[in-house]
Amino acid sequence: MAGLTVKPLHPSIGAEISGLDLHKPVDAATKAELGAALSEHLVLVVRDQHFTPAEYLTMADAFGTPMRQHYSQHNMPDYPDIGIILHRDGQKPAAMWHTDHTNRERPPKATMLYGLEVPKSGGETSIANMRAAFGALPELEQRRLETLTTLNSIDTHRTDVLPEDREKYGKPVSHPMARTHPEHGSKAVYFHITKAFQIEGMTPEASQEYMSGLLDRMIRPEIVYTHTWRKGDLLVMDNRATMHRAHGDYDRSQDRVLWRLIIEGDRPH
Ligand SMILES: [Fe+2]
Repeated sequence: MAGLTVKPLHPSIGAEISGLDLHKPVDAATKAELGAALSEHLVLVVRDQHFTPAEYLTMADAFGTPMRQHYSQHNMPDYPDIGIILHRDGQKPAAMWHTDHTNRERPPKATMLYGLEVPKSGGETSIANMRAAFGALPELEQRRLETLTTLNSIDTHRTDVLPEDREKYGKPVSHPMARTHPEHGSKAVYFHITKAFQIEGMTPEASQEYMSGLLDRMIRPEIVYTHTWRKGDLLVMDNRATMHRAHGDYDRSQDRVLWRLIIEGDRPH
C-alpha cells in the first residue's frame, strides 16, 4: 500500500509510522509492510490515536491475533484480552528489563501499549534492541548463549498471582537464550530475568547472577529508545528481539493508564 511513512526515532531502535488509518481494516500489503517495519525497527509508534476497547481489539488485527494475558485480575472485565496497566490497586511498575510472557510455550511476538492517560512527566517506557546487544557481545559469549536455555514459569516471587493463573501458566517452559528472529533471521538475547527461574545446567543462584551481569553489560544508551508518552500514543514492540522496562518516576497522583495487548507468536528457536 502507498502512503506509509517510517521515520526512525533512534539510531538503533524505533520508528514512527504515519499515513496509517487504524480505524479502517488494514489490507494484506499494509500488514506485510507493518510486519517488515516491526522486524527491522523493533518498536513502532503511531501517534494521536483514539480507540474504544472494541476498536483497539479490532485494530490489533493489523499486527496479528491477541492472546490472553496471565494476570487475569488486570484484564478488562468486558474485554479480557486487554490488560490494564496502572500503578494503583497493587500494580507495580515493571522496572526491570524483561520481555513479556516467557512462561508461555509460544510467547507473544509483540506487545502493544495504548496511552489512555499519561502523566505530565516521567513514566516513560524504555525498549532495548537485544539483536544489537547480541551482536556486541564477544564471540565466545555469543557461542555460549547459543547453547543455553532458560526454564520459565509465572513469577514465583510475586504474591499477586491468582491460583487459577498459576495453574494455567505455571508449568515450566524452556526457551533458548539466543533467539533467532523468525522473519529477520538475526539472533537476539532472549530471557525474562524473573520468569526464568533457572538456566538449565546451572544453579538458580548462578543463573540469576549470570543474567543480571549480562543485563549490566548489554544495556547501553546506544541500544535503548525511551518513549515519552503522549495521550493517544500506540506503541508496538517486537518481543522476539527486544527487552523493555517501565519508569516509575512520576507523580503518582497523576494517572498513567496504558491498555496492553499481546499478539500470538511462535515457539522460540
Ligand atoms: Fe512487560
